[in-house]
Amino acid sequence: MSRPFSQEQLRIRPSSREEAVVKVARGHFERTLVQIKGELAGSIAALEHPRRSEAVNYGEVFLRDNVPVMVYLLLQGRHRIVRNFLTVCLELQSSTYQTRGVFPTSFIESEGELIADYGQRSIGRITSVDASLWWPVLCWLYVKHSNDRDFASSQAVQRGVQLLLDLVLHPSFEGTPVLFVPDCAFMIDRPMDVWGAPLEVEVLLYGCLRSCCHLMEVAQQQQESQVLDQRLVLTRQWLHDLRAFLLKHYWVTSKTVQLLRRRPTEQYGEHQHENEFNVQPQVIPPWLQDWLNNRGGYLIGNMRTGRPDFRFYSLGNSLACLFGLLSAPQQRALFRLVLHNRQHLMGQMPMRICHPPMEGEEWRDKTGSDPKNWPWSYHNGGHWPSLLWTFGAAVLLHDQRHHQDDAVLLAPVRAMLEECYWRQLNQLPRQQWAEYFDGPTGTWVGQQARTFQTWTIVGFLLMHHLLRVDPGAVSLLDLES
Ligand code: GLC
Repeated sequence: MSRPFSQEQLRIRPSSREEAVVKVARGHFERTLVQIKGELAGSIAALEHPRRSEAVNYGEVFLRDNVPVMVYLLLQGRHRIVRNFLTVCLELQSSTYQTRGVFPTSFIESEGELIADYGQRSIGRITSVDASLWWPVLCWLYVKHSNDRDFASSQAVQRGVQLLLDLVLHPSFEGTPVLFVPDCAFMIDRPMDVWGAPLEVEVLLYGCLRSCCHLMEVAQQQQESQVLDQRLVLTRQWLHDLRAFLLKHYWVTSKTVQLLRRRPTEQYGEHQHENEFNVQPQVIPPWLQDWLNNRGGYLIGNMRTGRPDFRFYSLGNSLACLFGLLSAPQQRALFRLVLHNRQHLMGQMPMRICHPPMEGEEWRDKTGSDPKNWPWSYHNGGHWPSLLWTFGAAVLLHDQRHHQDDAVLLAPVRAMLEECYWRQLNQLPRQQWAEYFDGPTGTWVGQQARTFQTWTIVGFLLMHHLLRVDPGAVSLLDLES
């Protein structure tokens, strides 16, 4: 059961309408589920949008938007829908030469035919790398929860895993364990200067490789295969190197920033490792000082030669906790940072996607003057209710595993989570379960936000499930067990 928290810690009043709101949300959620080949297999991205008659793609089944959907279905024991979803995705895994192994961004059945988008139909024609990386994670969560080991070791799944690994485990010009991607390759699918090795993609890669290992281990127990053994050794090594790389180059605290500012620059040679990416101290932004406070820490958005991206990305950081990439003390440093910066990160509608937003000249340059990504809007500092559940799950999982370690910190963090939940509960039904919110406090419904957005609805239901129905269920998301 969830531990009680003191009412004084709540700055927002609980609503007596909780059960009614949950009931309505559940009703909306059921309506998002669609059939593929005659069976329920996933949710469309939004129930309603202003230009419903036009060919916009919110009526499609997006892989990334279905992540909370599948987690929620697993928690409800509706395994069959999850398996159908995984199977359809697998059927759509690309087999053409130049994109072999890639999973689609979205798909839909039309007149009995499956139509998939690998980026060729989206605005900007961008391929989603995150969709492919999520598939093994969801597949492993399904196998773990349902114990369907036959599915895990089936030829179709094992082949899918190998095709996907081929996309990652190969030599590259950089010789680093990170995956290089263009701008717009993940949830942030419009130009935001997130090309290179953006945090979210790299953390997902970590979760993906971890899950692939689990899936291969199931197969290994059922059949002997030297190829599989070798693949496992290589994948585990990659995983290890990737984690070491991210912790070394992306993790910052007040202490590490002070070291970074005093590092030498212009270092040549193999044995000079103090400043491998030749980062000049001037690029370290002044806002970091207050942001990191005393004992806060987070993973920065990107590391590129000479140009690290110090922006804070909520999803990548939350997933780094959930997937066990960050150690327990680092996770607590992250919670401290979120607590310290809650007026930015949570505001009126938790949770902000990325902070701080780009403005003026920088906005013009880096977004290509994108009006949807106006400062404090959409991906550029907007607030997305769908992001809260990943942070919430990270906190609850940590609390479950390390409760004794720092109860003084975890109590206010949990109280903050409660408050965030109440904010959503009070506002989302009135705001028609909008996709995102705008402005420095996230009060305004996003200027171009869709309404009745599936991951807004199901994200709220997940929070409700984890806070009220079954707090222990968060262990489903533990990739380490
Ligand atoms: C927008 C978002 C993307 C999401 C899609 C469907 O394109 O940027 O992350 O998957 O809408 O909801």
